[in-house]
Amino acid sequence: MNGTPYTGTGTVTVTLDGTNQTATLPLAAGTIGPSVADIRKLYSDLGIFTFDPGYGGTAACESKITYIDGDAGVLLYRGYPIEQLAEHSNFLEVAYLLLNGELPDAAQMAEFDRGVLRHTMLHEQLRSFFNGFRRDAHPMAVLCGVVGAMSAFYHDSLDINDPDHRRISAFRLIAKVPTIAAWAYKYAIGQPFVYPRNSLGYAENLLYMMHAVPAEEYHVNPVLARALDLILVLHADHEQNASTSTVRLAGSTGANPFACIAAGIASLWGPAHGGANEAVLKMLAEIGHARHIPEFIEKVKDKNSNVRLMGFGHRVYKNYDPRAKIMQHTCHEVLRELGIKDDPLLDLAVELEHVALHDDYFVSRKLYPNVDFYSGIILKAMGFPTSMFTVLFAVARTVGWVSQWMEMVEDPSQRIGRPRQLYTGAPQRDYRPLDARG
Ligand code: CMC
Repeated sequence: MNGTPYTGTGTVTVTLDGTNQTATLPLAAGTIGPSVADIRKLYSDLGIFTFDPGYGGTAACESKITYIDGDAGVLLYRGYPIEQLAEHSNFLEVAYLLLNGELPDAAQMAEFDRGVLRHTMLHEQLRSFFNGFRRDAHPMAVLCGVVGAMSAFYHDSLDINDPDHRRISAFRLIAKVPTIAAWAYKYAIGQPFVYPRNSLGYAENLLYMMHAVPAEEYHVNPVLARALDLILVLHADHEQNASTSTVRLAGSTGANPFACIAAGIASLWGPAHGGANEAVLKMLAEIGHARHIPEFIEKVKDKNSNVRLMGFGHRVYKNYDPRAKIMQHTCHEVLRELGIKDDPLLDLAVELEHVALHDDYFVSRKLYPNVDFYSGIILKAMGFPTSMFTVLFAVARTVGWVSQWMEMVEDPSQRIGRPRQLYTGAPQRDYRPLDARG
């Protein structure tokens, strides 16, 4: 809505029961998708707020970046279907698209590539931050800490009101987060940090920094690099999910982009969000064998168990997550390339999916596999430890977070995010001294 008049498509009238007070709320139309009722005057006109915990029915901002039709299973980045981008594009081109709104021409692409590559190294003093962590620290903790610490190192790009600063910060984040991610892994396993090699592509470089050691030659397998690039494309943005909303909320206060992305990383970590890919593998390991699936499914259906089928269900998708379909296909390709003919985990996942998709509990609730159901199996086959799965998600999503942060900062009507509440606590009362209580 951006402060400028949006395309109005009508109004909604709200009447307060038992009174003759009404509020007429304008309806705003998006390019596609449902219209929204602009409730900004509801409080001043009727003295009431709206109540929507979890924001299931609330559009928190206007955005031109990503569109999801959850019923149809459609995901568009800047209007382009995810299936087309997955097949024909690559992560850096998608990053350009998300940030700039259009696909680049050859010269723009080359300049963007150079811009990212120029920034892959970390300030050498940032190395010492890693030593402050325990070796058994979760790499998401390290990533969150070191990305937050970037605010203390790149003072020359912290003025969020300066477009050049914003652009350099964007490059720095997209370029350096993979280096931090790889070093978090190297630190955990006690191997020397491997510096980025800018002759390699984005996914190649990430594989190289994670798996190479100074003592040996390391050749990046092009099929695995392509698979990782694809995984990054699929995870690059997903409109106003929890971590992106966290980035926007932090950014709405004027906080610097490194602090905002660190907040996004923290929010992504939870098992209901980006942590689900790690949780899926733990779940498969716990189930252990296909013969235990019925027992596990019964546990999931038992409301008192608190067990969920991880990698299933989505707030927005009430159909197959389009990313999961692509992921499933890639999974087979990667295993074939690696010469893995029978992967018990994949067989178990396929069987689990089959059982769930034919069980009324999941069918009636429209619970389908989401992006995380198969991604862990691919990443494991590629040699990534489970604890790195969410870190790789964060590497990809950094592009989405930065794009959404940029869009927000450039929005002239942007205000601090400040939700209200339905207060159900004690009404006003007077303080009583300790000896007068009880
Ligand atoms: N297993 C079992 N039951 C489920 C599941 C699941 N994975 N997901 C939802 N349900 C049930 C839930 O119990 C509820 O049942 P009822 O109506 O009887 O109370 C109903 O389905 C609706 O669920 P909800 O919790 O209201 O849905 P939500 O939109 O708040 O939650 C979700 C969405 C993704 C957090 C949830 O589906 C979930 O916890 N899934 C497992 C974790 C997961 O795979 N997360 C990754 C999401 S995709 C990637 C990302 O966002 O990072």
